[in-house]
Amino acid sequence: MKKKTIYDIKSLSGRTVFLTVDFNISLIDGNITNDTRIVEALPTINYLIKKGAKVIIASHLGRPEGYDLSLSLKPVAKRLEKLTGKKVKLIDKFWEKSALDDIRKVKDRQLLMLENIRFIDGEKENDRQFARHLASMADFFVNDAFGTAHRVHASIVGIAEFLPSFAGLLMAKEVEMLSDALERPKRPFLVIIGGAKTPEKIAVIERILDIADTVALGGAIANTFLAAWGFGMGKSYVDYEMVEMARVIFWKTTRKHSALILPLDVITSNKDKNVKPKVVDYNNVSHNTAIYDIGPKTRQHYRDLIFEAKTVIWNGPMGLYEDPRFTEGTDSILENISQSKSFSIVGGGDTLTSIKSQKYLKTISHISTGGSAMLEFLEKGTLPGIEVLQNA
Ligand code: ADP
Ligand code: 3PG
Ligand code: MG
Repeated sequence: MKKKTIYDIKSLSGRTVFLTVDFNISLIDGNITNDTRIVEALPTINYLIKKGAKVIIASHLGRPEGYDLSLSLKPVAKRLEKLTGKKVKLIDKFWEKSALDDIRKVKDRQLLMLENIRFIDGEKENDRQFARHLASMADFFVNDAFGTAHRVHASIVGIAEFLPSFAGLLMAKEVEMLSDALERPKRPFLVIIGGAKTPEKIAVIERILDIADTVALGGAIANTFLAAWGFGMGKSYVDYEMVEMARVIFWKTTRKHSALILPLDVITSNKDKNVKPKVVDYNNVSHNTAIYDIGPKTRQHYRDLIFEAKTVIWNGPMGLYEDPRFTEGTDSILENISQSKSFSIVGGGDTLTSIKSQKYLKTISHISTGGSAMLEFLEKGTLPGIEVLQNA
């Protein structure tokens, strides 16, 4: 890691740290389904507290439009209390001046958490005034949010202009692991991409095709590529604004040594998902159905690719994994990666949530908390949120 970490902060006792983390975890009916992103940030939080600092934690959750308490960080704060055994004070209207007084009143070695940082537009706009407001809460800025380090937001990039800025231990670990893996990857090098965040993932595929030997797609992002090929996708989740981009990538792929692989068959149902799931070929999706998973031929094909590869990186579920009828594709990718002897990295918020049994994790070389962030790191070797931290 070429950046200074929290170990480089000389005196933390009695000082206040603004700590940005990625606690964007999956919730079902207000219950946390996977707390890996919280657990992974504990070493940094515990170190700062042990050294006598007061810690203000900032994170986003989901993509709220304005102040939307259905995306409150309350359940996350509760889980953090359980994991640390310390009280976590949630600061609701953190953008108001009065929040600064509330923060000042809290004693050292205490944890505070700002409500969902995206409740305020200034965050995503990287508003300088808002970043200055956040900075005025603390003496140091620490970024442990590898999963959001690709976002140019106020609590990630803007704030670093106003405070001495350091990497947290998770950030340092992620950067080290991924940099090592990318320096001289063993070949064949396979990257499997799924999920639904098509705009940001599609932007990195072209560069990843320069680095990897094979890029295999599944999930909603594959639908957009199949649509670009001209096949009817019925009611499937397709990012029509990205179809043109997918076409450009197809064209560029013809000039590269690497291969872009799409599903051979898929599992469909109707829009309301109350028709029995059916396996069809990629070019046979009827107009009143939607794709919810990859099919058995694709699972076998991707299994072969995984077993041939010496390096495998995977981000993004192969289907609508939240519904147990559409998890087989995603489960098979995980199982095969964990059985293969390749060097493997698996990452992403939903990707980690889709993992039902910890037993698979033992044989995976690195579990990353970043999804799109990990793919963008793969593309660029750095991220905006890393660039603004102080050099070692
Ligand atoms: P990650 O968090 O691992 O980076 P994303 O956030 O990009 O992954 O995507 C996860 C979401 O993609 C899940 O909610 C999943 O249901 C959805 N998804 C995957 N495939 C499909 C599909 N075929 N149709 C609809 N949604 C899908
Ligand atoms: C993620 O889950 O990929 C990160 O938390 C980033 O979330 P975002 O795509 O809403 O910025
Ligand atoms: Mg996600």
